[in-house]
Amino acid sequence: MSMSNKEFPIDALFPLNESAIISKTDSSEIITFVNQEFCRVSGYSEEELLGNTHVMLNSHVHSSEFFHVMWEAISNGKSWQGEICNRAKTGQLYWLNTSIFPIIDKDTGEVSGYTGVGFDITEKKHLELGVQSQEILYDSVIESTDGFWHLDNKAHFIDVSTRYCQLSGYTEADLLTLTISDLEADDHKGDLTYQLSTLNESKTSKVFESMHQRKDGTNWFVEILISYNVKHDNFYIFLRDISKRKLNEREQSALQQQLNHLQKLESIGRLTAGIAHDFNNILASILGYNELNKINAEDMPDNEFKADFLHNSAQVDVAGSRAVDLIKKMLAYCRQEEEHKSNARLELSDVLNKILIMLHEIIPATITIKANLVDDVYITIDETDFYQIIVNLFVNARDALNKAKGTIELSIYLVDFQSHICSACQEKISGKFVEIKISDTGDGINPTKLAHIFEPFFTTKKVGEGTGLGLSVVSGIIHNMDGHILVESELGKGTTFKLLFP
Ligand SMILES: Nc1ncnc2c1ncn2[C@@H]1O[C@H](COP(=O)(O)OP(=O)(O)OP(=O)(O)O)[C@@H](O)[C@H]1O
Ligand SMILES: [Mg+2]
Repeated sequence: MSMSNKEFPIDALFPLNESAIISKTDSSEIITFVNQEFCRVSGYSEEELLGNTHVMLNSHVHSSEFFHVMWEAISNGKSWQGEICNRAKTGQLYWLNTSIFPIIDKDTGEVSGYTGVGFDITEKKHLELGVQSQEILYDSVIESTDGFWHLDNKAHFIDVSTRYCQLSGYTEADLLTLTISDLEADDHKGDLTYQLSTLNESKTSKVFESMHQRKDGTNWFVEILISYNVKHDNFYIFLRDISKRKLNEREQSALQQQLNHLQKLESIGRLTAGIAHDFNNILASILGYNELNKINAEDMPDNEFKADFLHNSAQVDVAGSRAVDLIKKMLAYCRQEEEHKSNARLELSDVLNKILIMLHEIIPATITIKANLVDDVYITIDETDFYQIIVNLFVNARDALNKAKGTIELSIYLVDFQSHICSACQEKISGKFVEIKISDTGDGINPTKLAHIFEPFFTTKKVGEGTGLGLSVVSGIIHNMDGHILVESELGKGTTFKLLFP
């Protein structure tokens, strides 16, 4: 330092030299002096610095506007004070609280150079920036989640994110008057309260899934992350909208169920076909030998023994014909008789009237049959199949009335369905159909059983009274012709089957 002011006690500046970063430049900003502290903090040697400009320390943290303001002052003879960030030789940034003083030439009155005095404030700066960046981090994390709640230890709201308000439809003011379970869907009320109650110092976070309700009453699936802040005894709750994922999962599992069901039906079909085929051969031989026995018995003398024998043979025939009927049903279910079908265009009111006459044989007089038939409606179907369908449904209705008084109603409609689901195949029904509706005022079907009635061999009837193949056959025939079935039933009130023919 080359100061030569006689009155100024130069030694007063020595302590400053120890702790401050001091430099001097000429009027064209070339560094002409640096103290030891400057070299220590910047990491550059005196040789490296002298003859250079301060640009070598530029950190690029400040805008050009920042330097413009600084130069504006000092080049006009005014001092400048501010916080400057420089880059050390190692690449690390350091912060100085700096004052720059212009040196004025006594003779010319011009600025002949500058003296800079700075104090290292890097630590203080890092603390400040750290807090700031934590705040930025907090804000960005919170707004990037689908929902954020800050709750006190009684689970009252302290803060909610804007994004949560947008997603749920509630305003912040709404939320102040609500409890957390008000935001949960009906079957999930209390989910979060329970999860919060299980957190403590040893277990401070938890993730679980729940369902919440928006202000408009619609539900959304949420994944909730709870973080318990032990120090302040409160909770941070992060909510994520997982509705899309959940719906996909549901669709997947519905498809999988449908597939499993189809596979099950297919294997039952194969098994049934195998049994029916073999059993048919055995039965043919039983009935054939019985027939032979009856012919041979004709030559026997008429006595008690012959009468007994013929009676027993007749019983074999009765049981045999029931077995034949059963096998027919089994074969119909497996659609083994496909090749024998002869589809015809049937005028519905005509065939149904014929079937109704026949039905009086099997439906007792205690049951009233009502028919609302319209003319000139046609479907194309094998007539035997059609009989089988209608008779099966009437017999089921009769059984559901269980010998009590009641009504079975038969109607024809032309319908246009768009979003119904077939009760048998679970596929969406859309298009125009001829509907044959058969309603009874019987016992109705238990909701837990309703899903199974179209399964082969599903029956609620006593052994010997039902095989559980009736509706499987009905469903098989109708689906073979691209039709569908709708069932509505109420326990104790009755059941309605709607057969939809394309
Ligand atoms: N109209 C109805 N009212 C009440 N329950 C019914 C009705 N129709 C069908 N069900 C129920 O569905 C089951 C299955 O019917 P399905 O016609 O397939 O077999 P089933 O009548 O038991 O035997 P099958 O028809 O082979 O003699 C019945 O056992 C009964 O529980
Ligand atoms: Mg039946």
